[in-house]
Amino acid sequence: MEKLRVGIILGGKSSEREVSLNSGRNVYDNLDDEKYEGIPIFMDYSGQLWILPWQLISQNTTTDIAERLERDGRRISYEELKEEIDFAFISLHGKYGDDGCIQGLMELLGIPYTGPGVLASALGMDKHIQQNLLRSEGTEVPKSIVVYEDEWERDRKGVEKRLLDDIGLPLVTKPTREGSSMGVTIVRDMESLEAGMRNALRWDNSVLVEEFLDGTEFSCIVIDREDEPEILGMTEIKPQSEFYTYDDKYMPGRCRKFTPPKNISPDVIEKIEREVIRAYTTLGFRSYGRIDGFVLNGGRVLITDPNSSSGMAPASFFFEQAAEAGLLPSMIISELIEISRRIHEKKRGPL
Ligand SMILES: Nc1ncnc2c1ncn2[C@@H]1O[C@H](COP(=O)(O)OP(=O)(O)O)[C@@H](O)[C@H]1O
Ligand SMILES: [Mg+2]
Repeated sequence: MEKLRVGIILGGKSSEREVSLNSGRNVYDNLDDEKYEGIPIFMDYSGQLWILPWQLISQNTTTDIAERLERDGRRISYEELKEEIDFAFISLHGKYGDDGCIQGLMELLGIPYTGPGVLASALGMDKHIQQNLLRSEGTEVPKSIVVYEDEWERDRKGVEKRLLDDIGLPLVTKPTREGSSMGVTIVRDMESLEAGMRNALRWDNSVLVEEFLDGTEFSCIVIDREDEPEILGMTEIKPQSEFYTYDDKYMPGRCRKFTPPKNISPDVIEKIEREVIRAYTTLGFRSYGRIDGFVLNGGRVLITDPNSSSGMAPASFFFEQAAEAGLLPSMIISELIEISRRIHEKKRGPL
C-alpha cells in the first residue's frame, strides 16, 4: 500500500514561528510511519516554502533553519507543493498560518488539510469579529470595545473616557489578531493605559479592550469525531504570572495545569462543555479546534479565546488531553488526519 504523503507545514511568517516549529517537529516525530510518509515543509519569513531534510528539522530555532536552507533545503513553489504531498498537516500558528491564508492556498491547490477552513480560521484569529458572532448566538464573552489606531491617535481623552465608562478598571488590552499572549497587558490604572495600547498596537492596527476576568481559566480541545464535534478533554490552567503569558505557555514547569480540572465542579464542567461546543459550532470550526475561557465565581462561564489550531509540542494541551483520553500521540495524530480527510472528501466548495 502506498503511504499517504503528509506535508507538515511549519515555521511561517508570524510571531509564533518558534511555537510552530516545536509543534511541527513533534507531529513529525510521532507520525505513524506505517501509514504516512512525513515531509517537513518549512515556510520561511518571506512566505516561501522549502522541503527540509531530516538534519534540518532537528534544528533548535527557525533562525538556525533559515541559515541553512540554501545549502540543505529544497525550495519549492506553491504550485509544486501539490506534486510533493497528498495532505497538509498545518502546524503553522498565527498570521498567515491559522487565519485562513494558508488554508486558502491549500484550497486553490486542492490539497486537503487539518483544522478549520478559510472563513472559520479567519474568525478564529479576529477576536473582535468572533466575539460579535458569539454574542449574537447567546455565548457569554467579556465586555469589550475595539479601538482603532487612528482613533487612539486622534482622540485619546475620548477613548479613555469611553473605556472607563463602559468597561472600567482593571481592563485588558490586546491586539485584535494575534496569539500566544503577544501584546496582552492587564491595565490596572489609567497611567498604564498608554503602555498597554502601545504594546498591542505593535501587532495590529486595532486593540481589543476587555473587562478583566478574575476567575479560573480553562482550555478544551474539540475534535469532529463521526462528523460531530466532541470534547477531547479539559484542562484547568493555573498561571504563575499575573496572567497566562508566553513564558507560562512555553517554558517547561512554569505553569500548573490540571487535566481534567481539579477545582471546577461537575455541573460547571458540563456547562463548559456545552458552551465550548456551541462556540465551536457558531464559528464554523471543522476538524478540530481549541476553545479557551474562564469560569467566574458563581459558575458563570465565558468564552475568551477560540483557536482554530492548537500548539502540538509534547507538553501541549492537545497531547495532554489525548493522553488522558487514553490516546498516544501517534494515535490522535492519525485520527486527526483521517477525520480531516473525510471532511475534505465531503465538502462542496472551500471548507
Ligand atoms: N479579559 C481577560 N481577563 C483576564 N485575563 C485575560 C483576559 N484576556 C486575556 N487574559 C489573559 O491573557 C492570556 C492571553 O489572552 P488571549 O485572549 O487568550 O490571547 P491569545 O490569543 O494571545 O492566547 C489569556 O490566556 C489570559 O490568561
Ligand atoms: Mg489564548
